[in-house]
Amino acid sequence: MTGITTTSEKRLVIIGGRAHPELAAQVAGEMGADLVPTTAYDFANGEIYVRFQESVRGCDAFVIQSHTAPINHWLMEHLLMVDALKRASAKRITVVAPFYAYARQDKKHRGREPISARLVADMFKTAGADRLMTVDLHTAQIQGFFDGPVDHLWAMPILGDYVRRRVEDVAKLTVVSPDAGRVRVADQYSDMLGAPLAIIHKRRDPDRPNEVEVHEVVGDVDGRTCVLVDDLIDTGGTIVQAARALKENGAERIIVLATHAVLSGPAVQRLRDSDIAEVVVTDTLPLEEEHLFPQLTVLPIAPLLARAVREVFDDGSVTSLFENV
Ligand code: R5P
Repeated sequence: MTGITTTSEKRLVIIGGRAHPELAAQVAGEMGADLVPTTAYDFANGEIYVRFQESVRGCDAFVIQSHTAPINHWLMEHLLMVDALKRASAKRITVVAPFYAYARQDKKHRGREPISARLVADMFKTAGADRLMTVDLHTAQIQGFFDGPVDHLWAMPILGDYVRRRVEDVAKLTVVSPDAGRVRVADQYSDMLGAPLAIIHKRRDPDRPNEVEVHEVVGDVDGRTCVLVDDLIDTGGTIVQAARALKENGAERIIVLATHAVLSGPAVQRLRDSDIAEVVVTDTLPLEEEHLFPQLTVLPIAPLLARAVREVFDDGSVTSLFENV
């Protein structure tokens, strides 16, 4: 046989951006690894500098960044880290974006709009990403925007399992989708929890067509413990209005499950003042002191990310992580 053979081993490295350093550290900790020491800072004009302080040549690199506010800044830092890895000869680069920026603009709702979620995928590809790992995309078909493997993880086993352990009378549960867009995911929760499904249908009030949305509840929620599921809570408007409709229709108790706690603007106040008994989220995004309120429970996403990274590195199966849900 001609040529040169080696028996060199694969090397996994984990890199974290500055948006949510605790999460990257937790993922590394779960795997018994250290983060690659990295220098990162902003210039006076807002430009970002990054440099890895040790060689990443030939490594299997997983670069973790949460796309939190200020979202464009941290997205740019993520892209720069990928570019730096490519130019430093990393063998394979996996972008780990637990919350995928701009996922809600995944189509042109009206003429002359961008498809921002596609542009984000294109930018990562151009920067040098080989793979993408993310949790609960706003719509699953965003996977197709990235030209390469996408590991689309679900927080459902974490959030659903919490409900199973938390609720005494599982027979009283009804899973509720807050709008038509979330029905598919709510249906999966309904299967997992063995609970019936209800849907909130938003429609215009015929008497005031340009002003008010009526929230019609389709399904039986009277006297039930309603588990409202959504991918994200941003300003809290969607979920609080949905909870109000459930209460008006006789719901006894409302638990909200949402993967991504964006919690912008009035969200905390709205949720705190609402009829919602508990809001359960994961920490795909960093939560500061001002985001916390009595009904909030935050579950860690790092163990799931760490297991998925391990499967990818070992050429194992990410799908197997969700087989017994
Ligand atoms: C909508 O399609 C999403 O799934 C969320 O329900 C929505 O983006 C949440 O936003 P907000 O909390 O501001 O209502």
